[in-house]
Order: sequence, then structure tokens, then C-alpha cells
Amino acid sequence: MNSKTVFLQTYGCQMNERDSEEVLGMLTAQGYEIAQAPEQADVILLNTCSVREHAEERAFGKMGELSVLKRERPELVLGIIGCMAKLHQDAIFKRLPKVDLVAGPAELYDLPYLLAEIHEKRQRGKVMAVGRAFRPLEQKPAGEYRRPGVGAFVTIMEGCDKSCTYCIVPKTRGQEVSRPAEEIIHEIARLVEAGYQDITLLGQNVNSYGKRFPDGTGYKGPLGRLRLLEEDPETLLDFPTLLRLIDRRTNVKRLRFTTSHPFDAHERLFEAMRDCRSVCDWLHLPVQSGSNRLLRAMRRGYTREAYLDKVSRLRELVPDISLSTDIIIGFPGETDDDFEQTARLMREVEYDSAFIFKYSPRPGTDAAAREDDVPREVKEARNQTLLTLQDEISQKRLQRFEGREVEVLIEGQAKRPGQMFGRTRGNHGVVVTGDAELAERLVTVRITRALPHTLFGEVAA
Ligand code: 5AD
Ligand code: SF4
Repeated sequence: MNSKTVFLQTYGCQMNERDSEEVLGMLTAQGYEIAQAPEQADVILLNTCSVREHAEERAFGKMGELSVLKRERPELVLGIIGCMAKLHQDAIFKRLPKVDLVAGPAELYDLPYLLAEIHEKRQRGKVMAVGRAFRPLEQKPAGEYRRPGVGAFVTIMEGCDKSCTYCIVPKTRGQEVSRPAEEIIHEIARLVEAGYQDITLLGQNVNSYGKRFPDGTGYKGPLGRLRLLEEDPETLLDFPTLLRLIDRRTNVKRLRFTTSHPFDAHERLFEAMRDCRSVCDWLHLPVQSGSNRLLRAMRRGYTREAYLDKVSRLRELVPDISLSTDIIIGFPGETDDDFEQTARLMREVEYDSAFIFKYSPRPGTDAAAREDDVPREVKEARNQTLLTLQDEISQKRLQRFEGREVEVLIEGQAKRPGQMFGRTRGNHGVVVTGDAELAERLVTVRITRALPHTLFGEVAA
């Protein structure tokens, strides 16, 4: 047993958050303790993101800062793991000479061995594990770590088979593979037993769950053998079926999932959302652009009209659904007219929230071959316009709750004393009058006020 400490900071998506939990689970099982600050750690890992240039720059900057710690503690181990490790490999060692370890998303299960290699031999050599796995996945070191709280993430599929022209994910995370349903259901049952009430299913494109399982079955597996349900051999094991299985076979209170690609989100999904009591009235459905010309250039596989049709069908089946989205502004060739169509689509859909991203070229993607020709100031102005527009829409959407009673899962203390913070099933933040005895409880709250980003309310008698 060693008594080393590890500090791990995570950038990027929820998949990365979950990966970080897996890493901490493995390392704590090996005797590591979790350090709360980098200064107290023997091993510092940054789990990085490559989806936008900004996320990469932050991680590079942070690692640069941390490298200074090595002046006084040369034995400190610095590691870059995750998407950037996969994408930049050698460049990392060049730009950050103090880094000892680089391991991509597919090599995370090797980390205990890689760290042992560094600690034991401490040969000044660096360790790079990208695209080679030391141990097969089935032999992944045991150990479970979960962030405390009301919510937990469960990965249901890895990788992405799409080829959106701006996106680096297929490069960093590889081909889609779905996890067997039994494994997922057991994991959720265990989490529910441990007290987690809000479970988010994770995948780059959860709607294509079931396409390819590790054994080669799946509705588009290389063997072309459909995976059907054992208990009901008429039923295809796809994402809507998975939702129904989890709903039926576990006691989870709230079930969410992200991310959904609109191309693979069908009526079957909306019906499952309507029918399953645990599935929350919330859908993150990234549209990226409202212009058909740009949607084609992004290779999204749907038109503005097809997207809007899906949204209205969903709203027929689940009338109170809360929708969120991702939007990219400043994609190569984006004209004023393209931009205006995106703004119009946002007004039409009335999202509850929207994440707006300024396009940045990612090395090796198809879009990166085109000139990044929307000037910075234009991107900035368009970004501001959409942020302001979404603020208006969000506020209007929140007002629908005023005077209503809603179910709130209390997460913990709000900023002010005497107030607690929680979320509705639609993922809206609510500040509730009350104290710590409400913590981690599901309560019915009467909404008294809606501010631009937050609801306020009182526990209903
Ligand atoms: N530039 C800007 N935003 C991007 N996204 C993905 N790739 C890029 C890029 N190259 C955004 C998309 C995606 C979200 C996670 O990040 O909107 O849905
Ligand atoms: Fe970032 Fe995409 Fe990797 Fe998640 S999968 S960390 S969003 S690059």
C-alpha cells in the first residue's frame, strides 16, 4: 500500500466528469488519497477537453502554472489525460516539458499501472499511453468513487460514429460502442440503493444506443445481428427500450440523458419519455444552427424543418418538456442571413436554456480545411446577440411556473442562509426557503417568483 495523494481537475463534458470518477475510483482502491489542492498532491492529473480551442488553452495554462511546483518538489508527477492527450500527444511534452504522463480516454484504465511504472522506476523517461492499452478493459482495476450529492452519471455508450465537420470527438473518443443493458441497470440499481436520486445517462449520442455492443451484436453491428430483448424477443434493444427497462426495473426517481443527436431522436424516444414515470421532462437537443446551408456544411443530417417537426411532435407528447440546446456561431461561411435564421429558430423553439459557442477550428476536422472567415468582432457581436435573446426567452419560459407547484430535488445550501437550492424535473434551478433539513429531499414547491435564471418558492404544505 502506498499513501500517495492525487489531485484531479476535470475540463469539458459530463463524460469527462464520469471518467474522472472512474480514475479516482481506481486510484483510491490502490491506496491513493484524494487531495483537495494541487499543492498537497503527489500526483496531479488534468482530465482535458479538446472540443474547443478555449478548453485546451485553459488546460495548457493550468499545467504551465502547476509545473512551477516541480521546482521545489521534483518528485511530483504531472499527467495530462483525456481528449487533449489523445489529440496532441507529443506536442504536450514539447510545450510542457515537466509533464510525465500522457494518457488518452481509451487508456484511463491503465493509469494505475502507468503511475506505478513512474513511481517505481522513476527513470526520467516519460510515459505516453495513447492508442495502446496495457490491459484489456475487462481487467479494469476495481474501485468505485462517486461524487457525493443527489445526482450521478452513468455511461451507456462510448465514442461517436457521426462526422459533424467541426467536431473533434470522433477522433478523440473513437467508434461507438454501447454498454450491455444489464450492466447499466445493475449500476443504476446500486446507485439508487446508495441514495442517488437523479441519474443522468451519458453518451456522445445516446440515441444511437444499441447500434453496436462489444460482442458485435447491435442494430448496426459488424455481424448485423439485431440485439433483441430476451424477455420480449419482438423488441429491439435500442435507446427507447433501454429507458423503458430502467424505468421498469429500477426505483430511480429521476432519469435524464445527454447528449441527443436530433438525427437519431425519433417518435419512439418521445413515446418512451411520455410513458416512463422516472424520465424527466427535459431534453438537451443541440441544433447547432438554424440555417439549412450551414447544417449541410456541418454535416448534421437534418434540416431546420425536420428539427422543428421533431420538437413539435415531442411537445405534443410531452407538453411541459424543457428544451436546451447548443449553438455554434461563426462557422466558416456564416452570413448575416444564416445567423438571422439561427436567431429565428431560437425564437420559434423557445429553449429553456441554450449554450452558445464561438466556432474554433479543430485540427484535422473537415471544417478546419476551410478558412475560419468570420471575423472575431462579428463572432463576438453574434454571440452577444444570442445571449441577450436567450436571456429574454429563458425568463419568459421560467414565468410559466409562477404560481405552480413543482417537484424539486434539493441539492444543498443556496448562497444565502435560510435558503436551499434544488432543481425541477425540467432542470431549472430553484431557490427554496428552508434549512438543511430539506437537503437531498424531494419536495413539492410553490413557485412564487421567476427571475431571469432562477425560480424562487416555498415548500407547499
Ligand atoms: N467550435 C465551437 N464549438 C464547438 N462545439 C463542438 N465543436 C466545436 C468547435 N469546433 C460545440 C457544439 C457541441 C458542444 C459540445 O460544443 O455546439 O454541441
Ligand atoms: Fe471535450 Fe468532447 Fe472530449 Fe467531452 S468528448 S472532453 S466534450 S472533446
